[in-house]
Formats: sequence, structure tokens, C-alpha cells
Amino acid sequence: PKPKPPVEFARTFYTDTTRSMALAEQAKRVAAEFEFGQEHVRKAVKEFIREMDEGLQTEGTELSQIPTYVTAVPNGTEKGLYMAVDLGGTNFRVCSIQLHGNTTFSLTQSKIAIPRELMVAKTSKELFSFLAKQIETFLKTHHEDHYFSTIKRRKTGDKVKEEEIFNLGFTFSFPVHQIGINKGLLMRWTKGFDIADAVGKDVCALLQAEIDELHLPVRVAALVNDTVGTLMARSYTSPGKTGTLLGAIFGTGTNGAYVEKLDKVTKLTKNKDAGEYDKSTGEMIVNTEWGSFDNSLRTLPNTPYDIELDEKSVNPGIQMFEKRVSGMFLGEILRLALVGLLKDPNVPLFKDENSSDNDVHSTTQIHEGTPLFKQWGIDTSFLSICAGDTSAGHRMLRQTLDKDYGISAVSAEDAEAVREIAAAVGRRAARLAAVALAAIVITSGRLDTLSGASSGGEVAEEDIIDIGVDGSLVEFYPGFEDHVRQALREVEEIGEKGEKRVRIGIAKDGSGVGAALIALVAGRVLEESG
Ligand code: GLC
Repeated sequence: PKPKPPVEFARTFYTDTTRSMALAEQAKRVAAEFEFGQEHVRKAVKEFIREMDEGLQTEGTELSQIPTYVTAVPNGTEKGLYMAVDLGGTNFRVCSIQLHGNTTFSLTQSKIAIPRELMVAKTSKELFSFLAKQIETFLKTHHEDHYFSTIKRRKTGDKVKEEEIFNLGFTFSFPVHQIGINKGLLMRWTKGFDIADAVGKDVCALLQAEIDELHLPVRVAALVNDTVGTLMARSYTSPGKTGTLLGAIFGTGTNGAYVEKLDKVTKLTKNKDAGEYDKSTGEMIVNTEWGSFDNSLRTLPNTPYDIELDEKSVNPGIQMFEKRVSGMFLGEILRLALVGLLKDPNVPLFKDENSSDNDVHSTTQIHEGTPLFKQWGIDTSFLSICAGDTSAGHRMLRQTLDKDYGISAVSAEDAEAVREIAAAVGRRAARLAAVALAAIVITSGRLDTLSGASSGGEVAEEDIIDIGVDGSLVEFYPGFEDHVRQALREVEEIGEKGEKRVRIGIAKDGSGVGAALIALVAGRVLEESG
């Protein structure tokens, strides 16, 4: 196809040296707006700890601190065949999981992108019937015999044996007011979803109704946040001497769930609707919903780009932490920062009249229809490319701008400016992520004890504080963990010694396995109660 004509910008003439200096200075200025220094980190950690505490006592707080009714983490010996589905921010996954009981498992899964129109459907039925259909397709494909042998009997009302029904763990990665292991009312949508009639409803019942309409041999046995699943999966696959403390997601959205002492979850005893739970372990996993940490911006940074992003989002004023940290938003922050520079006729970004790219003299062109000028136009994966492109002249970065963003013949100076600002956005996100991890590590009290087994630089297994993570950002953003660790060391209560004790491990696709593990425990209880 013929390339579209370039967009015209006000152009100012620069000689090569004044031009690149002016640009470099401007890029530094914008990058500096994203600085989140040691003092900021420390202050935010204090605020996070305060909000954690508040959320454990009262309903309706910034950190929701949702009791999950899961009171134990697995130890790797769990066995059996389970199903799990995962409605995340971007994809819907259906899987069956065979737990082998020796810390390993096999997983069969199918994944489908959630159509955008379903995320903002008029009725929740549209979304949930779509989900049930995916489960049906999965069963027909991967558990054909089982499906066909039960479906006939289900349709005619004949009995299907208890053991023929799959217990399914439903990973639903949104804030839910949980009132039982397989019962929870949607508090609010996040990550761009917006279906009004689902708010306040029991999402397990919504899914079960659609499953039953298709006569599938499936029982929604457990409702699980993806962070809880990640925590469970990490504990199953790497059961350390102390057990995993925290499961965290840094993907489309961000959130964490951790092991809390039951007697600190005081709002649970105050709640009349609270269901039954096992008190014997003295612990319960709490879903923090830290995406909404500090919505009132006591300690969070707030640049003009953050403000604009929030104003134009579907949920202004909430998920303020998430809007600065997670994959759904970082590309947009960068985009707004770049557009800010482009609008200024005195800033020579992408206004190169005479770019010297291997002696080819060309003019930078921004083609019409470039996603640069559309909301959500820049994907966060672009930040990963920027962070990963250390080549001289940033070839990868320039190629991506050309191919994916319709900005051609970008000079090396331009690329460097973009890279610098992108890096600043990514670094700030990682340092904010560290705030959440630090607060949970500190309040767990695990730093207060140190066995005699650790010495010198070596940390003994029993002194490890284990954190399981998942999500596109931790997986693909180069250096994310390094930035997190740098910030952890800057927190007084952690310091270099404490930081060394923190082990951060990927729990890849953990939410599926985790949901299966919870379905296992929950299924037993449901079967016993008939
Ligand atoms: C959003 C959701 C939360 C989920 C997180 C990661 O913050 O509100 O429930 O855990 O995204 O997917």
C-alpha cells in the first residue's frame, strides 16, 4: 500500500550540534520528572504499611486487603486432575492440570484473547456465556471421551457420578469481596473492563449458570485471584523451608497476595456475612488489591502525564498505583510524554531535516494514522525494546518506531531521547513495585529472625524470604528486578542484608496451577458437604 502522507509539524531550524544538545536536554528534563528517589520510596513504604493495617481492620479502605478464605499454602505433595480457567486482563485461559504430587505437574491449556467488545459488553451474560463456550470447546478437544460420556446423561437428567465432575478453580483477576471459597461479589472492574450489571454479583454463580446451560460436567469449586494462584503455585513448585510469603503480578495490571496472621485480619470477625474457614493454621492469604494503593496520592508521584492518563481512563481516581506501575499503562505514559515534547515547536524531537543515517540523508516523517497520537497507541512492549536495545545508534528501537509506529528515518539522537524517557518510566515503575514488596516483607516479621546457618555472603535456605511473581513486565522488561532490588536496598529496614534474603522467582502461568490447587482443597470440602 502507498504510504500515507506525513503529518506537518512546526519546524525550527537547528544546526546539528545545537539540535542534539537541545534535544538531549529536553529528554533529561522529562526523564527527571519520573525520578522517584530514596526518600520517596521510604515515605511510600511507610504509607503502604499504614494502609495495609487499616485495610485489615476496616472495609472500604484504599488497600482492600481482601480475606481469601485460603488458609494454607501447598507443600508439593498434592495430587489429582483439576480444571482451571483464568480471566485476566488480556486473555482467557482454560486448562486442565494433573498434579503429580512430587512438586511437578502437567498442564494442557488453550488461550484466547478476550474480544475488546466483551470487556465493555452491555450485559455480563455476554461475557460469561463466551467463557462457558470456551470451556466447552476445551473439553471437546482435550477431554473428548469424558465430555461425550457425561454430556448425554447430563442432558437427559441421568445421574453423573461425583467423581465425573471436574472441580474447577476460577481465577478471576479483579477485586472481589469474597464471602466463601467459591463465592464472591465483584467490587469494581479494573484494567479497562466495564460491564455495569456485574458489579455486586457473585461471579462464580454467573459462570456456573452458563456452564449449566451447556450441561458441562464442571463445578466452579473455588474463586481465586491471580495473585493468590501465583502464591499457591510458587509454594507447590518450590516449597522452601519457610514457605512462599507473597505472590505478585506485574502484567497488564499489578497486585499481590500474601500470607497474613489470622488474628490480624480483624475485619473478618466483625463481618456478619463471613463464611466458614479453617482456623487451624492461624494464617490466611490476603489479597491486597495494591493497584489502589494510595489513591489519594499522599506519596505517589504525579506528573502531568499521570494526570492526563487518569482523567481519560474508564476509572478516574482509582487504581492510581496500578496506573503508574503496570503494563497496561506504561506505554501510555511514555506516549503522553513524547506527545508533550512533539507539541512544543522548540523541541527538535522527530523534526530532523537532515538525519544522517549511514549517509542516507532523509527527513524524519511521522505518517498519518501513527498510533503515537491515539490513546493506548504505544504498547508497553515498546518500553522493553527500548530498555533492551543497547546497540550503538539503537537500531532495534528505530526499526520498531518505523514498522510499528509509522515514524521513519529517525535519527540516533531522537532514538536516544526516546530511550532515555522510556527508561525513566520503566525505572519508576520498578521502584514503585519495590515499595509494595518492601512493605509486605517488613510487616511479615521474617526479617526479624536470622538463623545461625547464614554466614558471610551466604543466605541459608531457612532465611530466604520467597516471593513468586508472574506477568509480562517481570518476564520481559529487561532489568526490572535489578531496579526493584536497588530500591529494596534503599529501604532502611531492609538494607543490603535484607535484600539478599529476598528470593524472587517466576511462577510461570502460576495462576492456572494455583487455581487447581485451591480447587483441590475446596472440592474436598464441597463433596463432603454434598
Ligand atoms: C488488577 C486487578 C487485580 C489483579 C491484578 C493483576 O489490579 O484488580 O485483582 O490481581 O490486576 O492481574
